[in-house]
Amino acid sequence: MRMILLGPPGSGKGTLAEALCQRYPFIHVSTGNLFRQHIANGSPLGLEIRSYMDQGELVPDELTVKLVEEVLQDPKIREHFLLDGFPRTQPQAALFDQCLKRLGVKLDAALHVHVPDTLIKQRLGGRRVCQGCGKTYHIESYPEKVSGVCDSCGGAVILRPDDRPEVIEKRLKTYHEITAPLVEYYRKQGNLLEVDNSGSIESVLEQLQHKWPHEEQ
Ligand code: AP5
Repeated sequence: MRMILLGPPGSGKGTLAEALCQRYPFIHVSTGNLFRQHIANGSPLGLEIRSYMDQGELVPDELTVKLVEEVLQDPKIREHFLLDGFPRTQPQAALFDQCLKRLGVKLDAALHVHVPDTLIKQRLGGRRVCQGCGKTYHIESYPEKVSGVCDSCGGAVILRPDDRPEVIEKRLKTYHEITAPLVEYYRKQGNLLEVDNSGSIESVLEQLQHKWPHEEQ
């Protein structure tokens, strides 16, 4: 099973990916997390990536696609990827199609996660993330057991630099202008699934049970 997650910043793609990986044999690949790893390494590439991310801008297509293509060279990931946050532009989607063709694999589903912008702003304002493993928390709905310490890896749990209110506004604007048209792109390809994540993650999993192409996997 191979799937991509489409949805605005803060719509719960990362949280949902984690829940899906516990239930299905997916391998979660988040371009945002890959970029944050490069930043943490302090490499020149990481510095370049940071200059875009901290301002809420998209990282250039060429760099992003190259990184994803490298990850998909792993045969295990190629068979079971759950791509979170990629593709995000029309050129990325077209290059991704070509890449899948070269690798001889097919995308099974593009899952579009709906959440209204007002709720997104509340959720991102309270979001905290682990600097070590990228695990996501929320100060009210999903706090870490010990404040500031990741339940999974013991890393520091912090506010993401791009979760400042003015950057959240910019990311939402970019999403609606540049990424949202991909919903139609995948609808036309015939593999679009849509879910509403205004309620709980459990309710999203329930919605999926009725739409899922390979529920038994
Ligand atoms: P990325 O890290 O992918 O960020 P994003 O798409 O903006 O999405 P987020 O991680 O902010 O949110 P999410 O949808 O995963 O929500 P989450 O599960 O955390 O990308 C960051 C940056 O990298 C981009 O801005 C860009 O610069 C760059 N980038 C990445 N991919 C790129 C690409 N392809 N091309 C170019 N540039 C790229 O949930 C949010 C909060 O809500 C959490 O606190 C969570 O606990 C809570 N929550 C979630 N669901 C629920 C629920 N049902 N009930 C209650 N709380 C919930």
